[in-house]
Amino acid sequence: MNAPLFNQVGKIVASFDAEKARADFEILSRTVYGKPLVYLDSGASAQKPRVVLDTMRDFAQSEYANVHRGVHFLSAAATDRYEAARRTVQKFLNAAREDEIIFTKGGTEAINLVSYSYLAPTIQPGDEIVLSVMEHHSNIVPWHFLRERAGAVLKWVDVRDDGSLDIEALDAAITAKTKLVAVTHMSNVLGTVTPLKEIIARAHAKGVPVLADGCQSAVHDIVDVQALDVDFYAVTGHKLYGPTGIGALYAKRAHLKAMRPFNGGGEMIREVMKDRITYADAPARFEAGTPPIIETVGLATALDYLSSFDRAAVAAHEHDLLAYAREQVRQFNWLRVIGDAPGKGAILSFEADGMHAHDLATILDREGVAVRAGHHCAQVLMERFNVTSTSRASFALYNTRADVDALVAGLSKARGILS
Ligand code: ALA
Repeated sequence: MNAPLFNQVGKIVASFDAEKARADFEILSRTVYGKPLVYLDSGASAQKPRVVLDTMRDFAQSEYANVHRGVHFLSAAATDRYEAARRTVQKFLNAAREDEIIFTKGGTEAINLVSYSYLAPTIQPGDEIVLSVMEHHSNIVPWHFLRERAGAVLKWVDVRDDGSLDIEALDAAITAKTKLVAVTHMSNVLGTVTPLKEIIARAHAKGVPVLADGCQSAVHDIVDVQALDVDFYAVTGHKLYGPTGIGALYAKRAHLKAMRPFNGGGEMIREVMKDRITYADAPARFEAGTPPIIETVGLATALDYLSSFDRAAVAAHEHDLLAYAREQVRQFNWLRVIGDAPGKGAILSFEADGMHAHDLATILDREGVAVRAGHHCAQVLMERFNVTSTSRASFALYNTRADVDALVAGLSKARGILS
């Protein structure tokens, strides 16, 4: 396994040409309000390179049909592409088997699938689910369902003031009643990268499986589910430079075998009669109905695109942008960065004295700078840091130092207007 790239920051000689990569993304050359677009919201959703858009259109124009259903030429061709995409995801996550990859609508559906199919059938009142306070709502609400419906207890692991996770606190939260640890691999607000391998080792030592929300981390680091020994790993396509409506759940084969079906419908069954039903094995068991076929092909293309770069060099580039931005905003004594954990990923969240995050984001927007403002679907974390919202700049492979400069100039302007 390659060592996690986050840990290599500072040791890497960057050889990534972001300007060249930018040219792959036509949208980045447009203007908004007459200003060049500065897109710093890739944590919410990344832009799509031309090759992804072209491949989806070409596939739809020349090879499209439903999958796993027809004997005709196009159905066989489309099925080949669909299953090849599964192998691309398998390789991207280094899963041992392709049938450990379930296509979902996105990260949210992947986690809901685990809640409904893996935990719900066996959870008892008083059983515990361990979560960190920096989880996205997609890794909170499915567990609240089990609290509401089955009496499960949610146990929260705090973060330190710098946003780092306290592994000892997490370890202490795991008891004989714990049925799952559900934790992000990289916070969408703080950028904190959690010590996932260590978390998994500690949880497994107590016989507890681990679900990791990889929606942010898989974009910025090489993920190796076998080396991590993670039980469940959720990713979403649209943050990985792919289309919306497609994501994936990696789950260990042993878990999948024991999991009840999720949605019911076509293709997830073996036999349906008036009085009985038997189900297909994974992955079909969890992929009822016609899947997002074109999007699946788009996801595979996006993963190939991302993998075509030296990922370590991309990570170094993104980290350079973060470090540069962090340094630039130090001059603003009216701005507080939230989340400064060592080795964090390329996300910068902040609040500014006397400025509501939405007002700030609106002024930045008028300068062409797109950032996200709000609670970022992480209200438990907002409460931890005693804020209701933050502004967030998130960096992708196509961003440059000029984008950071535009952000900093926009912040200065906003201060002038709002203070
Ligand atoms: N999860 C996405 C974000 O962090 C939408 O913005």
